[in-house]
Amino acid sequence: MKTEAIWSALADHHLTVADRAILSLFDDPNRADAFSARLGYEDGHSGQLLFDFSKTNLDGTALDLLLRLADSAGLAARRAAMFSGEPINETEGRAVLHTMLRGTADPAVRGDWVQDQLATRSRMRVFADAVRSGDFAGPGGTFTDVVNIGIGGSDLGPVMACLALAPYHDGPRTHFISNVDGAHAADTLRGLNPRTTLVIIASKTFSTIETMTNAATVRDWMAASVAYPAAQMVAVSSAEERAAEWGIPADRVFGFGDYIGGRYSVWGPVGLSLMLAIGSDGFSQFLDGAAAMDGHFRHAPFAENLPVLLALTGVWHNQICGYATRAVLPYDQRLSRLPAYLQQLEMESNGKRVAMDGSDLTRNSGPVVWGEPGTNGQHAFYQMIHQGTRVIPCEFLIAAEGHEPTLAQHHRLLIANCLAQSEALMRGRSLDTARGMMAARGLVEAELDRQARHRVFPGNRPSVTLAYRKLTPQVLGMILALYEHRVFVEGIILGINSFDQWGVELGKELAVALEMLLVPGADDSAKDGSTRTLLAHLRRS
Ligand code: F6P
Repeated sequence: MKTEAIWSALADHHLTVADRAILSLFDDPNRADAFSARLGYEDGHSGQLLFDFSKTNLDGTALDLLLRLADSAGLAARRAAMFSGEPINETEGRAVLHTMLRGTADPAVRGDWVQDQLATRSRMRVFADAVRSGDFAGPGGTFTDVVNIGIGGSDLGPVMACLALAPYHDGPRTHFISNVDGAHAADTLRGLNPRTTLVIIASKTFSTIETMTNAATVRDWMAASVAYPAAQMVAVSSAEERAAEWGIPADRVFGFGDYIGGRYSVWGPVGLSLMLAIGSDGFSQFLDGAAAMDGHFRHAPFAENLPVLLALTGVWHNQICGYATRAVLPYDQRLSRLPAYLQQLEMESNGKRVAMDGSDLTRNSGPVVWGEPGTNGQHAFYQMIHQGTRVIPCEFLIAAEGHEPTLAQHHRLLIANCLAQSEALMRGRSLDTARGMMAARGLVEAELDRQARHRVFPGNRPSVTLAYRKLTPQVLGMILALYEHRVFVEGIILGINSFDQWGVELGKELAVALEMLLVPGADDSAKDGSTRTLLAHLRRS
């Protein structure tokens, strides 16, 4: 079957099953087993993952067609091309080798790239050990705090991972400044001692305006208290010469090649703040988890392959069922920044309107990704998820075990709430049941009907759940690599380049010109009426 024929068959099949109750699929006693996949259960691997996608309207026919879609998109060949370092980021002529950072790239990858990254990893380890032991210290003694200045991929990964792995922190405290809003720098620096603070300037290009503005501000803040601020600064960048121009000596610049995309970069020097916080051994475990997922992604048959199956549920919900968004709902407070991290990973990667060859996409690109940790979200936007007019597929994440053994009751409640939500979404509550509830409260006739209708849950709303043993560095690595490969698979099926981001450029260019127009008396006559009115108002204030 040709690719277009598979898409049509999927659309036709969806029409025939759209009104079916998901719950009815569980008449098959094997449903939960057949529509779930596991990693690490058999070998007792500590990073056990269970991906359950049985609470969706996917059936054997749909899954078979989706698997054929992956085949016909050339997924196996594209996957091999990525791992072997071919320039699959065609619009930038670059290889895509974040897997090399976890040691899982193919032997075909250029030897000098592998050597460079191994040498950098070993320098990072030596540096992190020296900072943590106090051998490399500030004028005030051992560094107590680390401030990472970066934005986008040079911020979201380390912020998210540092929060996620808080129980493993035994190094300096970590802080992050990303927004060009001076409030971010001011609030972060307040209370920090410049004499015991290490600064990481993380920017792949070392030219991003937000990062360079914040770096200059932090340098000024330090200069008021220490003689040589640059001595307490390190750079994480592909542009080593620019970092040197900025006064950071080569031995404190940790570089990486252009084959590491910003949003895929937490595994290398961009993860230095994480390595400082949890130590180089903990960081290695984080990489090991990702490497385990890489191995699984490369070798497991598609029908058992977690990233492939996660991607196929995404394609089914977005491109076939037409659900425009997906909610990522970690029942894990320490994954509170995972939705923000995934917004960049997924939307910067797959939010495109043309295919790799420049032709218009004939179907929607990736979905809007959003979310908040449970249980907080339940008291905010779950109302809409359960009873709104639009269907929002939900992706739940939950650990079997927390890190607070003395608070086991909290964790039981967390698990119960997570499972309750996916069950409620699927089961819903019928009008009859709602009427019965109202009758039991003594309501009658019109009032009973009116009140009952508000208490109906349509149900039949799909969700998937990723259950893991405990949020260790290794498990976090597995989860992030799972999502990276999911994005890759979705991108291949949609025929787009998941590794460029031209859509961020226009706004950056206009911002440079607009900054000039904020000067009083500047000639803004070439601008539209709205922009001129806003400029006038904002100049005044
Ligand atoms: O604006 C988008 C972007 O290019 C991201 O892709 C990237 O992660 C971020 O900016 C930061 O870029 P840099 O690391 O070069 O400062």
